[in-house]
Amino acid sequence: MGYIPEDILQQIRDAADIRQIVQEYVPLKKRGKNWVGLCPFHPDKDPSFSVNEDKQIFYCFGCGEGGNVFKFLMKIQGLSFVEAALHLAQRLGIEIPERPVSRSRQKTIKEQDGIIEINHLAADFFSDLLLNSSTGLDARSYLEERGLSQKTIEHFSIGWAEDSWDKLVSFLEKKGKPLELAEKAGLIIKRTRAPGYYDRFRGRIIFPIRDHRGRIVAFGGRIIVSSPHREQPKYINSPESQIYHKGKVLYGLFHNKSPIRKAGTGIIVEGYMDVVSLWQAGIHEAVGTLGTALTEDHARRLKGITKDWILLFDADEAGLKAASRALPICYKFNIRPKVLCLPDGEDPDSFVREEGPAGLRALMEKAPSGIDFLLEQGKKRFGTTTDGKAQLIDSVLESVSQVADPVRKSLLIGHIAQKVGVREESLWQKLQSMNKVSSRMVGANGGTMASKNRHGHRPMKTISKVSNKAEEKLLGFLLCYPQFIVEFLEEGLDLWLSDRGLLALWESMVNLYNMAGRCDLSSLCSRLEDAAGLKALAMRLSAEFPPCDDREAMMNDLKRFCQTRKKKALRMHLLEEMRAKGMMEPCEDILRKLQGLI
Ligand code: UTP
Ligand code: MN
Repeated sequence: MGYIPEDILQQIRDAADIRQIVQEYVPLKKRGKNWVGLCPFHPDKDPSFSVNEDKQIFYCFGCGEGGNVFKFLMKIQGLSFVEAALHLAQRLGIEIPERPVSRSRQKTIKEQDGIIEINHLAADFFSDLLLNSSTGLDARSYLEERGLSQKTIEHFSIGWAEDSWDKLVSFLEKKGKPLELAEKAGLIIKRTRAPGYYDRFRGRIIFPIRDHRGRIVAFGGRIIVSSPHREQPKYINSPESQIYHKGKVLYGLFHNKSPIRKAGTGIIVEGYMDVVSLWQAGIHEAVGTLGTALTEDHARRLKGITKDWILLFDADEAGLKAASRALPICYKFNIRPKVLCLPDGEDPDSFVREEGPAGLRALMEKAPSGIDFLLEQGKKRFGTTTDGKAQLIDSVLESVSQVADPVRKSLLIGHIAQKVGVREESLWQKLQSMNKVSSRMVGANGGTMASKNRHGHRPMKTISKVSNKAEEKLLGFLLCYPQFIVEFLEEGLDLWLSDRGLLALWESMVNLYNMAGRCDLSSLCSRLEDAAGLKALAMRLSAEFPPCDDREAMMNDLKRFCQTRKKKALRMHLLEEMRAKGMMEPCEDILRKLQGLI
């Protein structure tokens, strides 16, 4: 099911008690108006995680994670929005009416389910061949030589595809499975000169690729010998299909996401064998990009698990390049990257086999931040002459310009200035000329949110009206340009939107986005059919929002506004907590949190 009507979501939200749900995972203690506990989303020593029953939200002052009850379940159980909503509905006994699904949609869903079923069947078939057949003997000894245990092989469902043209084809036929579906899955290929199909994977070790929910969506196959097939690529992979987009899937994510969440830091590697071999060594924290460059879709998924990631690429030229290319993407999504380069000629798999997990962990401890890595690389590449330095700065700022969080950006700029020995202001100037966005914050819509009025004073008394106007402008922008919604999901709007109507509208927009992956005005309006007030509000806000030329600039401007509002809301939250405890002065814990919010 991919659709839950708005009024049902409202019912779920009204009936669910966030404290009760959270308490099933996190012991909470009452403190002032809030309930606090140790954050389940990052390693937390003193309780930074708080739940507010009035507002039905949670927030962690340590890692910045926050949201409503849906978000909590999505994070803690790795569910999609719809899955979280269904889970709650079931617990609360709320019935969800079946929505008539269009015929073509029904057909697609059925087909996708069919493909996944065939993939699982094939994976079992390959696994059985590896573990139990005489033809799997060479493959077994190959894996043994590479040091993989039976437990590891089974954990990752590794298999073996015999060197035959139609072993899988006949197996599927015997099982009565439609071969067209197996072809759509990329497992078999249509013959060109004769009728029928042949197997794509022949004479290869098979690595099933699972999506984040554990469904097998594709396969990779590695040759084991420099066989009679000359010029064969080392690995072949399933082609892209309706269920497999290689820029979206990360190998090992399904198996490792909980350990990564617990550890607080994840590792990004390149290969199948890297993930598998690290896992066997007890490092259950790696995910593999499988030889493709890190994409924005990858980054979006990664940051949902933790913000700290180590890029662990091979020490060769290609690995260095991959790391440099991945860094701007990490910064764009507020991931805090480190880069770990292994000694020459090593990859994570070979290194961990030679040096053991402790050896790798020791290197990880010392891994430089993304920025230090870029500075190091740049120095080697461009030298330390004046010209070289200028080139170095250009290349590093290129990445920094992507940093979404302004506070972080400013810290990084300070760091670079100090390391390279230039004035910070000149770096800012350079950055502005590179990224005109920041210098043209104002745009066509008349003034930044935080700007002074025309008398040069900040308007004081009319604050609520002003903030409502600003809030209206924010939602107006997102209604007109819904492609930017994703950028605002982490800005905690539910913590601080002061107008109830706007808050309800925002929640509907997020719900729709979470379900459909987009939130265009017409779908939103049809969702809001039964909520006339909200629909009218959405129409008005989008109509009132003037066309905007530089949308990126506007977005950055609005994001800054959101960040200020979020911090303010959080400061109030802490002060309330202090008052409730009858404290005149903040205790150390609150002081530390307040300092983080300046
Ligand atoms: P590597 O060449 O580093 O292989 O490619 P590897 O993972 O270390 O494999 P082993 O240790 O030799 O068995 C890294 C990744 O790039 C993709 C694969 O996903 C591989 O894991 N790749 C590589 C391909 O898709 N095709 C190829 O021919 C080679
Ligand atoms: Mn390798």
